[in-house]
Amino acid sequence: MNVIVFASRKGGSGKSTLAAHIAAHVHKSTKPCLMIDADPQGSLTLWHKLRGTNEPPIKAAVNSVSGIIAAAKRDGIEWVFIDTPPNLSAVVDDAIKNATMVIIPARPGVFDVNAVQETIQTCRTARKPYAVVINGAPASRDGVESRIVTIAREALVKFRAPVWSGQITNRADLLLALGNGEGAREYYAEGRAAAEISRLWAAIERSIKAIRGNASASGAMHKQAA
Ligand SMILES: Nc1ncnc2c1ncn2[C@@H]1O[C@H](COP(=O)(O)OP(=O)(O)OP(=O)(O)O)[C@@H](O)[C@H]1O
Ligand SMILES: [Mg+2]
Repeated sequence: MNVIVFASRKGGSGKSTLAAHIAAHVHKSTKPCLMIDADPQGSLTLWHKLRGTNEPPIKAAVNSVSGIIAAAKRDGIEWVFIDTPPNLSAVVDDAIKNATMVIIPARPGVFDVNAVQETIQTCRTARKPYAVVINGAPASRDGVESRIVTIAREALVKFRAPVWSGQITNRADLLLALGNGEGAREYYAEGRAAAEISRLWAAIERSIKAIRGNASASGAMHKQAA
């Protein structure tokens, strides 16, 4: 079983958005997923209610996720996706301790990029692999990424933070899908939002294979925290 934690102490960076889209993208009867909403704001829970199918299932966590994760393992769940609140509370710490990998979404602004440092430090202390994912970015033009994204990448290199080479663009489709309780592919399978979520998932899977020792880490986006 693999546990992917979406964490960042910066509010509005895209933790709940990415958790919902990735969970909807991955869940199948042959690949059972569980979502854990560890944020009392309940964004993921709201999306799940709008979805109305109970697929993938969701559990709420208050102070700790460990009990839920142990039960998920016994139930044969393959992937657990945890959405966390924008702080460094006990439940965030517990989620990161239980993580196979931590995804840190960051918008490409100077305040946002700067704010990833504390979450990175938590991952390093817990010795957990992690990667920053640039979210809510301006669209690339003719295959050239926005100057803001390039500047954000340069700043993240200075923190020695591993960053996914792709981006999740600021797209209305991602919001509209959430409002329907859907993932990007369910909303519009041929759309660019769905393509980006699918690329992010491929990168997460590659990293997990490397973390599990089933593939080389070259080309994987994460950094093994040490
Ligand atoms: N790539 C995107 N394109 C369009 N809208 C986005 C994108 N990412 C996030 N949003 C929107 O920005 C807002 C903040 O995103 P989200 O709630 O996912 O952040 P968060 O990190 O979970 O916030 P919090 O820390 O408050 O839990 C939401 O309205 C969300 O739908
Ligand atoms: Mg949230």
